[in-house]
Amino acid sequence: MSVETTTVTINLAERSYDIQIGSDNLSSVGRMVKGIGDVSHVVIITDSNVRQLYGETVLKALAQEGLQVDIMTVPAGETSKSASIAEELWQQLLALGADRKTIIIALGGGVVGDLAGFIAATYCRGIRFVQIPTTLLAAVDSSVGGKVGINLPGAKNMVGAFWQPQAVLVDVSVLQSLPARDYQAGLAEVVKYGVIQDEQFFSLLENNVGLIMERDAEFMRDVIARCCELKAYCVENDERETSGLRAILNYGHTFCHAIEACAGYGTYMHGEAVAIGMLCASRLAEALGRITDEVTARQHDLLVQLHLPIDLPEDLAREPLVEAMKRDKKTEHGKIRFILPTRIGHVELVDDVDEALALAAFN
Ligand code: GLY
Repeated sequence: MSVETTTVTINLAERSYDIQIGSDNLSSVGRMVKGIGDVSHVVIITDSNVRQLYGETVLKALAQEGLQVDIMTVPAGETSKSASIAEELWQQLLALGADRKTIIIALGGGVVGDLAGFIAATYCRGIRFVQIPTTLLAAVDSSVGGKVGINLPGAKNMVGAFWQPQAVLVDVSVLQSLPARDYQAGLAEVVKYGVIQDEQFFSLLENNVGLIMERDAEFMRDVIARCCELKAYCVENDERETSGLRAILNYGHTFCHAIEACAGYGTYMHGEAVAIGMLCASRLAEALGRITDEVTARQHDLLVQLHLPIDLPEDLAREPLVEAMKRDKKTEHGKIRFILPTRIGHVELVDDVDEALALAAFN
C-alpha cells in the first residue's frame, strides 16, 4: 500500500529545494524534472545494480514527459568514485551533446550520488542535478546538503564541491529491495541524528524497533523525513561547514574513517563503521567526564537491536587507528577534533583530546 508523500524543504535562498518522500513514487520523477523548467535533455547516472532494478522505470517516466533521456552506467562500488571514472563521464556527456540546460539524475546510493553530483558541479562549470537515493544511508544523509566528490587513492572524498541538487526524490518502497546489511548500515546514520540533535526521536527509535526492522513504509517515511529536517537545520545554518554546526553530522565519523581505512576499505560498510565509531566517541566522552555510562549504554542497546556491529575485532592493531585519525579531513592545525555527546540529543566539538584517551576509546 502506498503512503502519502511528505515534503521537507532545504531553505538556502536561491539554492533552496524540496525533498519529496513517498512510496511507489519513482515514476513522478518526470513531472518533477519538468517542473524544474527550462530543460529538454536529462542524463541519468546510475550503477550496474540499480540500473537493473529501477533504470527502466526512471527512463520511462522521463521520456513520458517528452524529455530526451540518456543513461550512463558505472560499475557498482566505491571504486567508481574516482578521477578516471569522472573523466569518462565528462567525455560521455560531451559526446551526448550535454550542455548547460542538461539535468543530471543521480540514481543510486551514496557512491552514485557523490559521483554524479560531482560531475554536475564540474561539467560546464556546473549544471543542475536531481538526487534519487536508493539506499537508506543516501536518503537520510548523502543525498541531502550538497556535499559531492570523488576519492583519491587512500583519501576518501578528498576532491569535491558543495553543489546543491534541484530536488531530492525518495521512494521508501525501494528500501524493500536492499540487502539486510545495507539497510542496517543506513540505520546507524538514523540513530546518529537522535544522539546529536533529538532525544525524542532517539526514544521513538528505541520504542519502534519492530517497525524499523520490518521496513514499515509509513514509519520509515516519517523517520527519513525527520532525519532530513534535522540535517536541513545544520545545512541551512552552516552550508559550507565553517561554523562547526554542520560538523556535528560527523559524530562517530573520526573513529569511523580510521576504522574503515585500517580494517581495509570494504571490510565494514560505512554505516557499520559509524555504529562502532559512535560508541568509541561516546566512551571517549565518558572518559572525559562529559557523560555518564548510561548515555553510551542506550546507544549500544539500540545499535545491537538494529543488528549493527558494536566492537572492533581484537586483532585489529590499535596504534595505526590514531595515526589514521590524524589524517582525517576534520583535523585542524594537527589536532584531531571530535564530536562528543553531552547527553542524548546534544553534542559538542572538542579539539584538545589526549591521544591516549582516544586510543583507549577503541576498546
Ligand atoms: N555527511 C555529512 C554532511 O553532509 O555534512
